[in-house]
Amino acid sequence: MKKILISFGTRPEAIKMCPLVKELNKCNKFKTVVCVTGQHKEMLNQVLEAFDVNPDYNLEIMKPKQNLFDVTINILDKIKKVLEKEKPDLVLVHGDTSTTFATALASFYMQIPIGHVEAGLRTNNIYSPFPEEFNRQAVSIITKYHFAPTKKAYETLINEGRKNIFVTGNTAIDALKTTVKDSFYHPLIDWIKDDKLIMLTAHRRENLGMPLKNIFSAVKEIISENRNVKVLYPIHLNPEIREIANIYFSGEENIKLIEPLDVISFHNFMARSYLILTDSGGIQEEAPSLGKPVLVLRDTTERPEGIEAGTLKLVGTNPKLIYKETMNLFTNPKEYEKMSKATNPYGDGYASKRIVRILVDNYENI
Ligand code: UD1
Ligand code: UDP
Repeated sequence: MKKILISFGTRPEAIKMCPLVKELNKCNKFKTVVCVTGQHKEMLNQVLEAFDVNPDYNLEIMKPKQNLFDVTINILDKIKKVLEKEKPDLVLVHGDTSTTFATALASFYMQIPIGHVEAGLRTNNIYSPFPEEFNRQAVSIITKYHFAPTKKAYETLINEGRKNIFVTGNTAIDALKTTVKDSFYHPLIDWIKDDKLIMLTAHRRENLGMPLKNIFSAVKEIISENRNVKVLYPIHLNPEIREIANIYFSGEENIKLIEPLDVISFHNFMARSYLILTDSGGIQEEAPSLGKPVLVLRDTTERPEGIEAGTLKLVGTNPKLIYKETMNLFTNPKEYEKMSKATNPYGDGYASKRIVRILVDNYENI
């Protein structure tokens, strides 16, 4: 029996890899080993708990205020020992984080083939998002099996001369299919009442500092000008973000700064929101499925399918533009309707099943 090691370390990777872990566990062709790097701690554990996944290894590398060097060096060092012990036939990584890059690099050094889930996303601006655009491009070079979520991602990889590319859909949708429920209840639903709910998240490295302050001042203006609007902001555990958020929003009644939500609650709040303000990658994939307009607080996106579907609009971090586009969605029903059509460019919820099928079909070559 061949052995597949699945590695992930941050919240979004976990949300998108747990459905695949579950699917692989059902397949008797492979032995599956799960190694989490622990690049995130509490935010990773929340997801593992929600999906009831117990990793075989947790490298526990997270430390407060870690930088890119800390994360990369510690993963490289620790995962080497796991790879030496387990000797997997294939390593599966996801997306574009430092966990993805360092795990792929370690596997490459040990000449272990790599399968890349969510392959082929590009902005083609190496500094945006930073350092993710580099990570995803670098991993493509050393990947044997590319699991592209969309046709566009597939074509990107073809144009780069890659081989063994498969269009699978995005496993984010696999997760989303199981979480949104009419029966969902959370005490904050009583606080929202019949007001319009804006879900806010922000964490990108390139937005830390002034861009984040600009985003927050736009949100402050939105709530002070619209008394029927409530903002729910589950703040990323990065202390740099929390400090600024607490200063900007202290004393504001119509915004709740809360701890990161478990994924089930987050998906359900998104499903009940009026619109979403975010710089997240994963949320740009989930929102089109839920028919929720997203104003993307970034200058670039690697998710053009959502823009084409009409659900996403890039607004960057200019406070005037964020305010203007939000007000437009409040006051212009045609524009709101256009952006809130539920379309799903990211798959049908069977991406994990497809990936396992492809792995089985390629069993002899792995
Ligand atoms: C990382 C990824 C980014 C992804 C994001 C998802 C890289 C370079 N970046 O960025 O692509 O979009 O995760 O959220 O890989 N922290 C905690 N507890 C946690 C998680 C984080 O305390 O459970 C704090 C730590 O102090 C840490 C800081 O958050 O120093 C930042 O975490 P880190 O993984 O370095 O970067 P992210 O901004 O989360
Ligand atoms: N998410 C969550 N709880 C929260 C905020 C987000 O579970 O409080 C989920 C969200 O549904 C999406 C993922 O986390 O699936 C996005 O993660 P993040 O924004 O941290 O990273 P990115 O997608 O930008 O890499």
